[in-house]
Amino acid sequence: MKKNNNNNFDIKNVGQKVNLYGWVAKKRNLGGLIFIDLRDRSGIIQLVIKPESKYYELAETLKNEYVIRAEGIILKRESVNKNIKTGEIEVNVDFLEVINKSIDTPFEITNNTTALEDTRLKYRYLDLRRENLQKNLITRHKIVLIARKFLDELGFLEIETPILCKSTPEGARDYLVPSRVNKGKFYALPQSPQIFKQLLMVGGLEKYFQVARCFRDEDLRADRQPEFTQLDIEASFVKEEDIMNIGEGIISRIFKEIKNIDIKLPLPKMKYNDAINYYGTDKPDLRYDMKINDITDIFKNTNIEFLKNIIDNNGIINCIVINNASNSYSRKDIDKLTDYVKTYKATGLAYIKFEEKISGSIVKNLSDDEIYKLKQQLNINDNDLVLIISGNKDVVKTSLGALRCKVASDLNLINPNDYKMLWVVDFPSFEYSLEENRYYAAHHPFTSPKDEDIDKLTTDPANCYSKAYDLVINGYEAGGGSIRIHDQEVQRKMFEALGFTIEEAKEKFGFFVDALQYGTPPHGGMAFGVDRLTMLLTGTDNIRDVIAFPKTASASCLMSDAPNYVDDKQLKELNINIEK
Ligand code: AMO
Repeated sequence: MKKNNNNNFDIKNVGQKVNLYGWVAKKRNLGGLIFIDLRDRSGIIQLVIKPESKYYELAETLKNEYVIRAEGIILKRESVNKNIKTGEIEVNVDFLEVINKSIDTPFEITNNTTALEDTRLKYRYLDLRRENLQKNLITRHKIVLIARKFLDELGFLEIETPILCKSTPEGARDYLVPSRVNKGKFYALPQSPQIFKQLLMVGGLEKYFQVARCFRDEDLRADRQPEFTQLDIEASFVKEEDIMNIGEGIISRIFKEIKNIDIKLPLPKMKYNDAINYYGTDKPDLRYDMKINDITDIFKNTNIEFLKNIIDNNGIINCIVINNASNSYSRKDIDKLTDYVKTYKATGLAYIKFEEKISGSIVKNLSDDEIYKLKQQLNINDNDLVLIISGNKDVVKTSLGALRCKVASDLNLINPNDYKMLWVVDFPSFEYSLEENRYYAAHHPFTSPKDEDIDKLTTDPANCYSKAYDLVINGYEAGGGSIRIHDQEVQRKMFEALGFTIEEAKEKFGFFVDALQYGTPPHGGMAFGVDRLTMLLTGTDNIRDVIAFPKTASASCLMSDAPNYVDDKQLKELNINIEK
């Protein structure tokens, strides 16, 4: 095995004889000397081959990405390269061997590559040679290792659960796998190990974790992949605080060991309803302020026709205040923001600039009283810009929440080295579907309601809240979980609230509902998104940067061409006919 790593050497090693392996990252011929940047996973070291060397001719034939072995003595460099750790030294080569050649690569392998992402994904094995991707994967490895150690110390067991499962209604669409032996039947890939980890608690294992691959056929975004990894945890005889403490313990150790950041514990908690009201999302980014303000009351008697209509139709009027920004936004800029909020279904964006003279889209009919109240309630200072959205609550909150993030990013209000973490708690137990005219479980039907809400499950579902918690870091949902229902009477009520009887529930969840009858301990857990945690710790906003072989936004792998057609013979064996 290769003994030396390039990056392990520095000025202290001058005079040492070394034997190095790696790839040719760059070759330069300067004044007769050949310089080679030799790359391995640890980094780069410079090799020098002098004209009088018997390996000079061989060195001349080297091209980028050739695999070579070089022996030589470490010398102090004349001109220091401050950008790399080995920048003060070089290796004077006295033996050189080409181990393997490379054809020309489709893009140059450097950190600041300009290659299109699609090209990089097609040749992912080359992309993986880039230092920044390797660093991301190293960070990912450390995250998982730290978590494993932490949980092991607490007595948690790592237990694997099946990948070929039964399809159960869980939220996203399932990936299905046809069974050859059981013709016409399908397995589903797990969206998470949720049911199995609860069954492990019924099975008396008490403390479980798994680095679990999960599969969800859902619309992809910059922080979502069709297959992703959870650090999945479940424990028996616990309350919300116990799981949250474990979650905090893991996260603080990860941030300490990887970033040397001390996270102040316990993390703050925010109620779901407050998160929506003030930040327009259940994953608020607290690195900047700009809370959403409800200014509906100020316009109760307004002369502004469209706002009057909104209030008459039970709508709301909300705004964000951008301090000292009225000069930063031209009419055109505001038009762009308007287009942006329209993608969130807002019908428009009104604005007021509080300069010496108040200006903006709605100032013509704004009364003195309204101006006065706005200034008071919003603590307006000179040059503040107020952006207003009105309409139904969901649209107003969501679009202002998104606008808040966009403005913060446009105005560079975010310090990339800042981490703001919180728990979002007290999620509603149910979501109402207008289309189907019924309540849905906001998480899953086994999430425990708050003790004080159990009696309201069937009578006032809109005001029932659950023992669920999400860990939010810098606007990302980094993890989430809940205490589960273990009491059968509560479970029956929950099913009833969701509109199905125990018998119907048994049809849907069968074995699971049965299992809960055999002395289920109180239990709960959570799952971290390993990909998202790695994104946060490596500072990328693209989930593909933290996965060795990721999929594109259309869930395909450009390198291997998955998914793809299969032979008719394979289909026949599975009894599957593809409609042309
Ligand atoms: P949940 O669905 O909230 O909970 O998932 C837990 C965490 O997994 C991450 N995550 C994803 N990451 C990348 N791509 C995706 N498509 C994706 N979907 C989710 C998020 C999220 O917080 N069984 C429950 C956990 C529990 O209750 O114990 C569950 O799966 O970071």
